[in-house]
Amino acid sequence: MSTTLIRNGTIVTAETSFPADLLIEDEKIREIAPDIPAEAAGRVIDAAGMLLLPGGIDAHTHLDMPFGGTTSADDFETGTRAAAYGGTTTLIDFAIQARGAKMRDALDAWWKKAEGRATIDYGLHMIVTDLPEAGLEDMDALVAEGVASFKLFMAYPGVLMVDDATIFRALQQTGRNGALICMHAENGGVIDVIVRRALAEGKTAPIYHALTRPAAAEAEAVHRAIALAEIAGAPVYIVHLSSEDALNQVREARDRGLPAFAETCPQYLLLSVEELARPGFEGAKYVFTPPLREKHHQPKLWDGLRQDHLQVVSTDHCPFCFADQKALGKDDFTKIPNGGPGIENRLQLLYHHGVNQGRLTVNRFVELTATTPARIFGLYPRKGVLAPGSDADVVVWDPQASHVIRAATHHMRVDYSMFEGFRVQGNARMVLSRGEVLVEDGVWHGRPGRGQYLRRAARGGAWK
Ligand code: URP
Ligand code: ZN
Ligand code: ZN
Repeated sequence: MSTTLIRNGTIVTAETSFPADLLIEDEKIREIAPDIPAEAAGRVIDAAGMLLLPGGIDAHTHLDMPFGGTTSADDFETGTRAAAYGGTTTLIDFAIQARGAKMRDALDAWWKKAEGRATIDYGLHMIVTDLPEAGLEDMDALVAEGVASFKLFMAYPGVLMVDDATIFRALQQTGRNGALICMHAENGGVIDVIVRRALAEGKTAPIYHALTRPAAAEAEAVHRAIALAEIAGAPVYIVHLSSEDALNQVREARDRGLPAFAETCPQYLLLSVEELARPGFEGAKYVFTPPLREKHHQPKLWDGLRQDHLQVVSTDHCPFCFADQKALGKDDFTKIPNGGPGIENRLQLLYHHGVNQGRLTVNRFVELTATTPARIFGLYPRKGVLAPGSDADVVVWDPQASHVIRAATHHMRVDYSMFEGFRVQGNARMVLSRGEVLVEDGVWHGRPGRGQYLRRAARGGAWK
C-alpha cells in the first residue's frame, strides 16, 4: 500500500475552507483531519501556504476530433497532459456518431483514441447526428456503458445539426433513462441564411464569423431547447453559453423551477468580438461557435456564475493550429475550423479573474470547476470533492504563483494562445490523480495510458 500525507494546507470545498492534513492511501483519500501523524505516510508533502483543491473537471473538450476538414491538434496524450498542468484531472470529451452509423461504433472509436494515451481520467459524451425512432434504445445501451450525456446540435446544417423532432425524441428518451441532453444552442438555419448573404457580398474575413451569428440566434435556440425539454419532461444542459440574451432564457427557466443548466467558458468571460477584427488573418485564432460577443455581455456572465444561473465553467477546448489549420479559411471565414484552445488555462484564468478580482469566492470557484460538473455528469462523489473515499485527485494550488500565459511555454499542441500575454496569479504547484503525482513544480511525472475511462451514472445529479 502506498500512502501520501499532504500537511498544513487549506482544504477548499464548494461549501467551506479549513486548515487540515490530507492522507492518501493508494488511489483514495483516506482521511482529512488536523495533525495526522507523519509516521503514517510513505511520502510527506508540505503544503503550507497552499490551497488543496479537488482536481478540476473539464466537462467539454474535443481531443483528436475530425472537424472542419481537419482534426483538432491535441490528442488524448497531449491534451490530457496540458489539462493536468493546469490542475484538471478529469475531462469529458465528445465521441461523434457518424450519420447513418451506430453510436456504439463511435464509442469504440473514441475509446481507441484514448487507449494508451490518456494521462488523466476521462468520460465521454456522445454527439448524436442521427436518431430514428427505431434507434432510441441505442441511447440506453450507451447509458449502460457509462455515457450518461448526449450532445445535440441546433447549428451546423448539413453537418451536425438535427431537427426539432430528433431533439424532442432524444429528450423524451433521456427523460426515461436518466441521461442528460447537452445542447449546442444556435439557430443554424437562420445563421446559414445570414452567412450566405455575407459571402455573396464578398464578406470573407474572420470578423464575419461573429457578425453572422447574432446573440438573438443563440437566445432563440436556448429558449426552444428549454421549451422542448419542458414538454418532454427532461432536464437540459446548454453548452458554451456566450451571451446575456441566452443567459436570460436560462435564468427565466430556472426561476420557474425547470431543470435547466448551463456552462460558460473563459473565452466568453474574458475576450470580446474585437479579437476577430485583428489585422490580417489573426482574427481566425478566435473563430469558434458561438462567437465572441461585445464586452457588455461579460459582466452579465460573471453575475450569472455568482448567482447560479450558470453552474459550470468548462473550456470547449478544440485547438487548431494557426499556421496550417486555421489557414484553411484564409479566403472564406466559413472554412476556418471552428474551435479554440484552453484546456490548460481554465483554473488559472478563473482563479485570477474570478477569485483574485473578488467576483467569486474560492468555494464557488471549486463548485464551478469541479464539484458541480461532477454532480451533473454522474461522477460525484468519486470526483469533484476532497472527502474520505473519493479519488485522490488533488491540486496543491499556490495562490501566490504568478506567470504570463504564452504559447511558447504552454503544453497544448497548438501554435498560439487565445490568452497570450495574460498575467495570472494562482497556479497548480502539484497535481495528483488517484494518488499519483502527475506534475510537481512544472515537471511532468505522468504516463500515457494511465488515465481510466469513467463509467458515469445517469441522473448522477439531482435535477434541481
Ligand atoms: O467552435 C467550437 N465550439 N468548436 C467545437 C465544437 C462545438 O460546437 O462545441
Ligand atoms: Zn458546440
Ligand atoms: Zn464544443
